[in-house]
Amino acid sequence: MIRLMEPGRLRLGVLASGRGSNFIALWEAIERQDLNAEIKILISDKADAPALEAATKRNIPAVFINPQEFTFRQEYEQALVGELMPFKIDLLVLAGYMRIIGSTLLGTYKNRVVNIHPALLPSFKGLHAQEQALVYGVKFSGCSVHLVDEGVDTGPIIKQAVVPVRQDDSVESLSRRILKEEHNIYWQSLQLLAQGQVYLSGRRIYIKDRNQEVGER
Ligand code: GRF
Repeated sequence: MIRLMEPGRLRLGVLASGRGSNFIALWEAIERQDLNAEIKILISDKADAPALEAATKRNIPAVFINPQEFTFRQEYEQALVGELMPFKIDLLVLAGYMRIIGSTLLGTYKNRVVNIHPALLPSFKGLHAQEQALVYGVKFSGCSVHLVDEGVDTGPIIKQAVVPVRQDDSVESLSRRILKEEHNIYWQSLQLLAQGQVYLSGRRIYIKDRNQEVGER
């Protein structure tokens, strides 16, 4: 069993491709002092991502790195690592980042890349998870915070939240209900990491109570 993070203030790097509401929710949790962390930089692969503006507005360095300028994913990720390195981040946080993470980032940040997915994994991986859930006809869906591994949405799960699926739900209404929970469980998961409470054994995550020892399993 390995402890994922030692207790302390987390230095975060955020990758985002879109609107950035999860980034903002993390920032707000930090402001409220619910989350012991600092967001050191936000990087986007989309020049017009609202997340870039949201970061700038909050005095967080915001950088656009254009993937089109690189032939191979490895080169693009090397550029990301180059940008992240000076900030000595503890954790790379994916917040609506729409690219697959390759071996360069995973090798640099082993067990230190986290993602949020708008479904109860392992169901409905990949794109349009909320729509997949509606079409399938599940009665409950939700969201999952997980470590990123080589697969798409397959890494060890840190936290999940469940929401009901209603008969009259549209993709939009279900997405809204799930997003509300995303905005809670992301910072809560990161705070558990900041408190040094998160352990990994195989693909199972154990949350150690602050007063309780987790024995070898
Ligand atoms: C969220 O639903 C997240 O689960 C998914 O992408 C969406 C990003 O939203 N990975 P935002 O950009 O954080 O508002």
